[in-house]
Amino acid sequence: MSRVDLKVDLNGLTLKNPVTVASGTFGFGREFTDYLDLNILGGIMVKGLTLEERKGNPTPRVSETPMGMINSVGLQNPGVEYFVKEELPFLKQFDTKVIVNINGNTIEEYCKIAEILSKTSVDSMELNISCPNVKRGGVSFGREPEMVYEVTNKVRQYCDKHLIVKLSPNVKDIKEIAIAAEKGGADCISLINTVIGMAIDIENQTTVLARGMGGLSGPAIKPIAVRMVYEAANSVSIPVIGMGGIMNYRDAIEFFLAGANAISIGTANLINPWVAREVIDGIKEYIKTKGYGSIKEIIGKVRIPSL
Ligand SMILES: Cc1cc2nc3c(=O)[nH]c(=O)nc-3n(C[C@H](O)[C@H](O)[C@H](O)COP(=O)(O)O)c2cc1C
Repeated sequence: MSRVDLKVDLNGLTLKNPVTVASGTFGFGREFTDYLDLNILGGIMVKGLTLEERKGNPTPRVSETPMGMINSVGLQNPGVEYFVKEELPFLKQFDTKVIVNINGNTIEEYCKIAEILSKTSVDSMELNISCPNVKRGGVSFGREPEMVYEVTNKVRQYCDKHLIVKLSPNVKDIKEIAIAAEKGGADCISLINTVIGMAIDIENQTTVLARGMGGLSGPAIKPIAVRMVYEAANSVSIPVIGMGGIMNYRDAIEFFLAGANAISIGTANLINPWVAREVIDGIKEYIKTKGYGSIKEIIGKVRIPSL
C-alpha cells in the first residue's frame, strides 16, 4: 500500500500530521478521551490561559446562529499555574504536541505567562492577540500592526519555546498584521480567531448574549478564513495554521490549497467529537487519490483561473 507523508514542519515544531484542534473547543483534552485517541492528533491547542484563574462572562454566553455559533465565554480558565500542575502531566502522556494558548490584559501579563511556560514541557505557545489591551482603552492587541509587533516582540524575549501568533480577523488589513507578527519574531502564525457578531432575541428585544456581542465561529466564517489565510500566506515566509469553519476533510483541503501548512478544527468538535479522526483519514485519502505522496505537495497550490 502506498504511504502518504503527512508530517509538517512549522519552523521548529514538527507535527506528525497537520491536524490540530483549536483553542477553547477541546478543553484540556480530558472530555474527548471517551471518543478519540488523542495520540492521533498532530497537536492540541489548549483552552486559553491567563495568569490568574478567570470565571468568564455572565450567561447566556453561547448561542447557535445560522451556520455557526456565537460565544462570549470570556476566557474562563483555572490559571496558568494550575494548568502546569494539574493538566499538563495528563496531556504529556500522549504522542501529540501541546500548544498552549496564552492571554493577557497587558503585555507584562503575556510575558509573565510565557516565562512560566518556558520552564515546562509544553511544545509551543500560541499568543491570542484578540484580548483587550487595558492600557490602550481596551482596544484589542491584534487590531493594529504596531501593537501586534510590540506584543510579539516583547513576548519573544520571555518565550524559549516555539511561538505562534494567532491573528484576529477583525482588522483592516490581515496582510499588514501577519507581517507585523513575523517581524516581531513569531515562528508561525495561526488564523482566524472568531469574527465579532451580535444576535438579537426579537421577543425580548435584548441581545441573545448577556454581554451583547460575541465571537462568531463555524461554517459561516469559512470563506472569510480561507481568504485571510490566502492573503497572510502570500505575505509572510513563516508557516501558517489555518482555521475557521472546518467541518470535514474537504474544508481542510481548501485551507491547504490556500497556503496553510497545518489546520485546526474548532466548533466542529462541539458537534462531532470524532471529527478530527475523520479529517485526518479524509486528507490521507485525498492525497493518495490525487496521486501525491505528501501533504506538502498541495500547500498553496490554488490557482485563480483568470490570473
Ligand atoms: C467556545 C469557544 C471558545 C474559544 N476560546 C478561545 C480561546 O480561549 N482562545 C483562542 O485563541 N481562541 C478561542 N476560540 C476561537 C477558536 O479557537 C477558533 O479560532 C475559532 O472558533 C474559529 O474556528 P472554528 O470556526 O473552527 O470554530 C474559541 C472558540 C469557541 C467557539
